[in-house]
Amino acid sequence: MRTACCPGTYDPVTNGHLDIVARASKCFDRVIVAVLINPAKQPMFTLEERLAMLKEATVGMASVEIDAFSGLLVDYARRREVTAIVKGLRAVSDFDYELQMAQMNYRLAGVDTMFMTTNPTWSYLSSSLVKDVARHGGDVTGLVPDFVVTRLRERTAQPPA
Ligand code: PNS
Repeated sequence: MRTACCPGTYDPVTNGHLDIVARASKCFDRVIVAVLINPAKQPMFTLEERLAMLKEATVGMASVEIDAFSGLLVDYARRREVTAIVKGLRAVSDFDYELQMAQMNYRLAGVDTMFMTTNPTWSYLSSSLVKDVARHGGDVTGLVPDFVVTRLRERTAQPPA
């Protein structure tokens, strides 16, 4: 069985992430979307909220599994018998760091990374930008699933003065 692993923070999941997961599921028998448990980061959504949003967003994708991991990605990948880590590349600016991580992961454990070119529709999209726009009251409809728009509105709502 060929298994892809799409690791990330997913704070929150975007349509760009979902495009990569959907396309990976056409190339692999199974896709594990693995959310990093990182106590050093202060995410907008808790781990449980991020996992729940990913589950809801991938409900129609039969071969996709949502999971969480901590520690080194390569240790998790080996434990789950991952064939390749799959990442989206949006622009050249992604490349340097992604290449470093891919080469380190290969050096550490012989785990391969495959890159998919991001659909140009989503080439400017990131969770960080989505959160920034939402925090400032901007409309992120169409960039994330509709139920994520609602969660972002709830999370960023300003208390009445
Ligand atoms: O969504 P992100 O924050 O860009 O995802 C980064 C992630 C989770 C893929 C990366 O930080 C990671 O793999 N972290 C796990 C710890 C690890 O293996 N570090 C060494 C990387 S070479």
